[in-house]
Amino acid sequence: MPATILVGTQWGDEGKGKATDLLADHMDYVVRYQGGNNAGHTVRAGGHTLKLHLIPSGILYEGITSVIADGVVVDPGVLLEEMDELATRGIDTSRLLVSSNAHLIMPYHLELDRVTERYLGKLQLGTTKRGIGPAYADKAARIGLRIQDLTDEKIFRQKLEVVLKEKNAILSRVYNRLPLDADEIVKDYMGYGERLAPHIADTSSVLYGALRQGKRVLLEGAQGTLLDLDHGTYPFVTSSNPVAGGALVGAGLGPKEVARVIGVTKAYVTRVGAGPFPTEETGAAGERMQERGQEFGTTTGRRRRCGWFDAVLVRYAARVNGLTELFLTKLDVLTGLDRMRICVAYRYEGRLYEDFPPHQTIVHKAEPVYEDLEGWTEDLEAVRGYGDLPPAARKYVERIADLGGVPVRHVSVGPHRDQTVET
Ligand code: GDP
Ligand code: IMO
Ligand code: MG
Repeated sequence: MPATILVGTQWGDEGKGKATDLLADHMDYVVRYQGGNNAGHTVRAGGHTLKLHLIPSGILYEGITSVIADGVVVDPGVLLEEMDELATRGIDTSRLLVSSNAHLIMPYHLELDRVTERYLGKLQLGTTKRGIGPAYADKAARIGLRIQDLTDEKIFRQKLEVVLKEKNAILSRVYNRLPLDADEIVKDYMGYGERLAPHIADTSSVLYGALRQGKRVLLEGAQGTLLDLDHGTYPFVTSSNPVAGGALVGAGLGPKEVARVIGVTKAYVTRVGAGPFPTEETGAAGERMQERGQEFGTTTGRRRRCGWFDAVLVRYAARVNGLTELFLTKLDVLTGLDRMRICVAYRYEGRLYEDFPPHQTIVHKAEPVYEDLEGWTEDLEAVRGYGDLPPAARKYVERIADLGGVPVRHVSVGPHRDQTVET
């Protein structure tokens, strides 16, 4: 049974948590493969509203093994808090597995994320300040500490002391901050290690074995295609690879294991943090999306910027992820707009770009070329069959599939799992 990859096709918050939760019914394993607790995935099911940052969105289901794979950066204190929070709601986390190769977010990563952002001033990225960028930077520089280091105090201390010497020099001399204390960090992290020990595993091997046994594996992306370090709107991106290729690297699987790549796409576009956003709509329509869609960041509470659907992005996401289908979310939010707009291309210096432009300047300065469609006034929250959607809403969905070159398989009309229509 081949694995399924689920990725965001925009700048995150497309509704990956809801989509994963729905598909979890048909899965045995749900795996996070990159990012860290910069993610915020909301799942509404069985009377719960869960906001998950690190734990995969399949955790609610007893039959599912949740896996935090090699490519994730883990803040162990946050992970334990999230596990405790789930336990207070009666959700069992005993089957959660964490890769021994996953890198650790350390206290100096959090500190550096804050101070470097401040240093960038007007050029700042608006990160989630969870230490993500600094942790991935250390991983690439080969000075990261990993989950497996939590199980050996001597090695942990040895590695930490070397790194901390440099980090403390930077924190105190460049950023005028107080140096961090190695003993304190060792004490805290050994405590985390003790609690996490039963969950530490060779997750690549576990997943490979599961696939050989015909088990069903869903690889749940965090962030989105346009936040990808290599393929997103660099430098306004995160420091990992949310795209489908990143799922293979992050989980430790080969490309032959995957047959289905689902692109989760919001029926409009949002973005938290800084960076280009060609279809951003600061007028009444954007405000309406923001309010009706409750567009506030799950992790940082920041107001999300909103704008019209951008077919250039979905076409690009289809290419760089090899999407086999779309899962379209939040169509209900668009009810009541008298005119719907879809961006079909960008215009820059007299030239039309139907494909995502290859240069940052073009993306920053591009003017969207819109196609207008009819709106609809009917509430969609109660719709359960594709044929019950108003004709204008169906036309909107079909136009998105046409322009993206990928079929829409699911349309979501509300946050609850049953508020989903199969096409
Ligand atoms: P993720 O990061 O991709 O998992 O998305 P978030 O959870 O950060 O943001 C999506 C928000 O939209 C959450 O609050 C969901 O409960 C909500 N949501 C998901 N699908 C729908 C939908 O079809 N309609 C509405 N109204 N809300 C939805
Ligand atoms: P989910 O999984 C939306 C954004 C931040 C910032 C940039 C870099 O919920 O879709 P980072 O802290 O990663 O270094 O910040 O990326 N960002 C997200 N935006 N959804 C997310 O996750 C995000 N994770 C990071 O706002 O612009
Ligand atoms: Mg989110």
